[in-house]
Amino acid sequence: MYSEKVIEHFKNPQNVGSMPDADGEGSVGDPNCGDCLTIYVKIQDEIIVDISFLVFGCTASIATSSMTTVLAKGKSLGDALEITEQDIIDSLGGLPKEKQHCSNLGVGALRKAIQNYYENQRIADAHDDDGVP
Ligand code: FES
Repeated sequence: MYSEKVIEHFKNPQNVGSMPDADGEGSVGDPNCGDCLTIYVKIQDEIIVDISFLVFGCTASIATSSMTTVLAKGKSLGDALEITEQDIIDSLGGLPKEKQHCSNLGVGALRKAIQNYYENQRIADAHDDDGVP
């Protein structure tokens, strides 16, 4: 059975929605169950000042995506990269064994979104250096 915390985040997920002006975004899918998640981040001074997600998936994937954004919001990029699947599961008061893989989506999408932010920064820096106004 699901914990109260999982049910709470499933019924009232935090930070849902797309973010058209995101500084980075990352998407992952699980080929076995077909669930997929996109996470968007807004970064200021290496801190995640805003984060949101869109998910197509099961109850646990909605709850784990929501908890991923709650854990990552306000964290430095370095600290956010250290969030693990187990952190998400523990923060939700546990997950049934067969649903633990759902937490992979949150960690994977968050890391991809941060990676995408760094890539966007590199592109922006390269444009700053090319002499083109
Ligand atoms: Fe695969 Fe939930 S069943 S992410």
